[in-house]
Amino acid sequence: MLVEVVLTAALAVLLWAAFFRKPEGLPPGRWGLPAIGFIPLTRKSMEEQILDLHKKHGNIVLWRIGNQLMVFISDYQLGKEALSRSDFANRPDWDMFKLLEEVPLGVGSSNGAHWHANRRFALRQLRDLGMGKSKLVAGIQEQALKLVEILKQQANKAAPVPHALKVAVVNVIWQMVAGKMFEMEDEKLIEFDKLLKDLNAATFAVGVRDFFPGLKYLPKYLQNILFSMDRIEGFKEKFLNYLDELVIEHKASLDPDNPGDLIDAYLLELKEGSESPDVIRSERDLGLLVLDLFFAGSETTTYTLTFMMQYLAMNPDIQKTMQEEIDQVLPKGILATLEDKPRLPYTEAVLHEILRLSSLLPVGAQHSAVTDTQLGGYYIPKGTIIATSAMSMHSDPRYWEKPEALKPERWLDENGKFTTKKEGFMPFGSGKRACLGESLARMELLIFATAMLQSLSFAPPPGSTVDVTADPAVPMFHTPRNQDIFITIR
Ligand code: HEM
Repeated sequence: MLVEVVLTAALAVLLWAAFFRKPEGLPPGRWGLPAIGFIPLTRKSMEEQILDLHKKHGNIVLWRIGNQLMVFISDYQLGKEALSRSDFANRPDWDMFKLLEEVPLGVGSSNGAHWHANRRFALRQLRDLGMGKSKLVAGIQEQALKLVEILKQQANKAAPVPHALKVAVVNVIWQMVAGKMFEMEDEKLIEFDKLLKDLNAATFAVGVRDFFPGLKYLPKYLQNILFSMDRIEGFKEKFLNYLDELVIEHKASLDPDNPGDLIDAYLLELKEGSESPDVIRSERDLGLLVLDLFFAGSETTTYTLTFMMQYLAMNPDIQKTMQEEIDQVLPKGILATLEDKPRLPYTEAVLHEILRLSSLLPVGAQHSAVTDTQLGGYYIPKGTIIATSAMSMHSDPRYWEKPEALKPERWLDENGKFTTKKEGFMPFGSGKRACLGESLARMELLIFATAMLQSLSFAPPPGSTVDVTADPAVPMFHTPRNQDIFITIR
């Protein structure tokens, strides 16, 4: 009997050690049960829970959810180190990112040589199309003027930031991708915006399967109901079909010596063929690359500008100083170009503060460990998800005095010159996989912001306030609350 008891106890210990115990060397945090991980019973948002974990355990914490090991980093230096290393350059193998493609295409979810080639290609396009007094700058200015006209139409009444802001931003991407822009009320554009929104929403549902891969064995019809699989496929194909039409138009007018936009340039690469067997060149890849640019570049820029309007509404003195600077540098009717940037230090400082305070991707975008490795003294197994918390960095009192305050002066030296303070600031990520649209985004922020403030002022509706905190209903992506703002014409 005693032998049986001892053997059962030994087996229990072995089972516990094999399946339940957190292996040595991993960062501290939440481990939970095999295959389930740690599922919290709380009403707190994921973001609040990650902040709590950092308070409790420090700069690097682990949270196992389903079969996924997630590591969150809140320290700027450690985050920068992780993002600079090629062993953290991969994206997770998640359908949420891959949009159910067998092999991830495009740039945002692909890995290895294919990702590298597409990233280089897209960066080259942005550089070639966006340099100096380019078509891209002219396109942003044109959209800025149209936007200001629409904002003027809602002057002197309380109303939400109009959809025209998003249209203007999306049109800039269309200009870069296909050399075309739509009218603000174009039906096709409204339909296209809805398609992107629907596709984005559907990807959240499929994310559950990424954490609990056993669910992939459920019958297909059930997966369609639970995880919107057929919806994702449907929306994706609709987008790709629309792009096909554009590709046909572009093929008909392609001038090999003078590619006018990203589609032209890709078609030329397609003709030349792939530089390596791991780099896929296909119209499907082009479609998914373009989709990545719309996904990554439209809401980010739109929401940053919306947060700017809301923050300025609540900070009239800062708004006034910004307007005075813009009035001095840009006569009425003259729009900013990149060359004006050095003469607009206060405006630059405000935009940096908005990027810091809004921290759109509060826990960054997810990366994945390419191999077994070490970080911050801890063991990080291959496939672990790594996320850097921009929100923690942007509110770290070691870098930011009174981090919660909008203080443009912290970006200015004693002569009022803008100082590119980099420590503690990471709105576009960092390293190998940093935002590839950063230069375009910065150009848009400068031109749209100066055009708006040249002609308009923002305030809360009379007798009311504007809440500058993010909408709590949207997880992991800081989204401005949909609320009224009061615009006046200057
Ligand atoms: C204010 C505006 C923007 C912000 C705050 C922003 C921020 C970010 C962040 C934090 C990442 C993740 C970096 C990482 O994985 O570590 C990212 C990635 C990316 N962004 Fe942006 N972004 C903005 C605008 C844009 C624009 C305008 C475009 C292009 C049209 C763009 C294209 C991309 C792409 C393609 C990626 C994925 C890069 C890769 O996986 O290699 N972004 N962005």
